[in-house]
Amino acid sequence: ERCVVAVDGPSGSGKSTVSRRLATAIDGIYLDTGAMYRAITWAVLHAGVDPQNADAVLKIAQETDLSIGTDPAAPHFEANGIDVDAAIRGPEVTGAVSAVAAVPAVRAMLVQLQKDIIAAAPRIIVEGRDIASVVAPDADLKVYLTASAAARAQRRSAEDATDVTATEADLARRDKLDSSRAADPLRQASDATTLDTTGMGIDEVVAELLSMLNS
Ligand code: CDP
Repeated sequence: ERCVVAVDGPSGSGKSTVSRRLATAIDGIYLDTGAMYRAITWAVLHAGVDPQNADAVLKIAQETDLSIGTDPAAPHFEANGIDVDAAIRGPEVTGAVSAVAAVPAVRAMLVQLQKDIIAAAPRIIVEGRDIASVVAPDADLKVYLTASAAARAQRRSAEDATDVTATEADLARRDKLDSSRAADPLRQASDATTLDTTGMGIDEVVAELLSMLNS
């Protein structure tokens, strides 16, 4: 039977790792919607366009040929035929992605793409910030992963070898931008189950979600 799981949460909540593991466990595909916003942001910067210029950003978004990998073992992304897997995690993209994600027409475009991918997939784990509320309101399971600010910063800096204090500041900056933007501000869906993963290991979180899915 079909199975759609929505995993939302802030950076460093562990949602990527957990979502990929969960997708593998149910033999499904994995959609990283943050990577889509990041790939468009890469294309904006690559074209020399100002990320604050909404009209120019939208034009780039419309012209960019995105290749979206959904294999949970290796979710590979390309923009206009260029491998962007490393670049979309870099500080330039991270610094500009919230501005790009705040453009309503860019969101509308990417949300439609996400809905199409979900409709075509029998089993899928979708990771983001607006999945339960906007992208897949009919999901079979909706979880909101969270963790303390310190734990989130610690995880993220362990992943990308950045300074933990700077990372904590950057996460706070993006949380604020993402939740205060005018168009479709990011907030927790009222019908999502919150799981605070502070102090929990990956295996524990995955096991908890699998038991929610099977109950
Ligand atoms: O994991 P991390 O928070 O570093 O980032 P991400 O999930 O890759 O998302 C990067 C940015 O994309 C977020 O800060 C949001 O501005 C935006 N985003 C969004 O607006 N909606 C989504 N469904 C996913 C990401």
